[in-house]
Amino acid sequence: MDFNEAQKLLEKEGQAHLLTYYDELSDEEKEKLIEQISRIDFSVVLEIPKDGCENERGVIEPLGALTIEEIDKGREEYERIGIEAIKAGRVGALLLAGGQGTRLGYDKPKGMFNIGEKKELYIFECIINNIMQITERAGAWIPLAIMTSDINYDDTVSFFKEHNYFGYNSDYVYFFVQDMSVTTDFNGKIYLARKDKVSFSPNGNGGWYTSFVNAGIRDAFVKHGVEWINVFAVDNVLQKIADPCFVGATIASGCVSGAKVVSKAFPEEKIGLLCTEDGRPSIVEYYEMTDDMMYQKDESGKPLFNYGVILNYLFRIDELDRIIDEPLPVHVVEKKIPYVGEGGITIKPDKPNGYKYEKLVLDLIHLMRDCLSYEVVRNKEFAPVKNLTGVDSVESARKLLAENGIEY
Ligand code: UTP
Repeated sequence: MDFNEAQKLLEKEGQAHLLTYYDELSDEEKEKLIEQISRIDFSVVLEIPKDGCENERGVIEPLGALTIEEIDKGREEYERIGIEAIKAGRVGALLLAGGQGTRLGYDKPKGMFNIGEKKELYIFECIINNIMQITERAGAWIPLAIMTSDINYDDTVSFFKEHNYFGYNSDYVYFFVQDMSVTTDFNGKIYLARKDKVSFSPNGNGGWYTSFVNAGIRDAFVKHGVEWINVFAVDNVLQKIADPCFVGATIASGCVSGAKVVSKAFPEEKIGLLCTEDGRPSIVEYYEMTDDMMYQKDESGKPLFNYGVILNYLFRIDELDRIIDEPLPVHVVEKKIPYVGEGGITIKPDKPNGYKYEKLVLDLIHLMRDCLSYEVVRNKEFAPVKNLTGVDSVESARKLLAENGIEY
């Protein structure tokens, strides 16, 4: 793309202001800015909510789960199937680590955060320790892909190298970068982060499969024999990865995907609920929950909509290949976005001043033919680190580490 093409495109899209400072830039800066403009996906801006509500929903119904008691009864057989699959190289893992972790207020990748008190214990280290419990048990390495954003790629890769991959076999680790999306003001005007830089932010964790395929890692995984991918979040320090029982139960169920869930702690808990929508699996986010979904009970007195997801999913690769071209909804999120203001100076706002646009992995579940809802014990598997203190925080995660006998 050259300057004239960029100018024409921006005029058509109503974003011509992105070239306001073009004449002041050096040749190198000009080139970079045009290259960034050529990468913009203008269609996301059409998603700005007109009346405050997001997507239209179909008919939502509760979905039960394979309960903890049922899992315990079948554990031996599920684990046997799971371990066999891992040994045969049929299971890969994918760590979503492209988020910005704004709530934690830590300016490095969240995985580099040291959650230790008496000793160093980085979040990435917790994750590697957890997956190594399984590789040791199975006697086989599990291919592990790590998705970062443009912003945190270098830091993440150097950190793993500096720490010698915390003992993991680096031949089985694959880093890749997720796509980015523009940020805009509330009227859909794309922000400049600097005079020579369009404001991009990570486009959510939902686009991981496309980025994973485009980076050539799907093919590398398939070469290892991988058929199933366990996708999980960076910020749960008790995350069980490639859990043989979960893998085995999902394979045995005949479903093409699985989701770990926990029983709701209280009716209003802010957790995405695994349900069905028009007969297919679907996740309803906490802000979409109706009173009925919060308070209705089943005949045994348990909440009717009871099972919340913890961002630990299992997907069969052939099913992901089938749906790869299906569009995912774009979620519009209010955010504080640094931008170039009057006189070309970058301003850091202290309250939300625009939107970022995200696709979410939870929406992939709705594209799956079916999904095994698999219940886990909350205090053994769910210690999210979103904030420094309070709910889902460093504080609460430390308590859970102690409860599970993990030194920190
Ligand atoms: P969160 O939804 O908690 O977002 O991510 P975040 O950006 O890390 O944190 P906040 O909201 O700014 O405080 C859930 C998981 O999805 C990953 C995160 O790294 C985390 O593992 N993620 C999120 C991505 O990989 N890419 C993204 O664009 C967003």
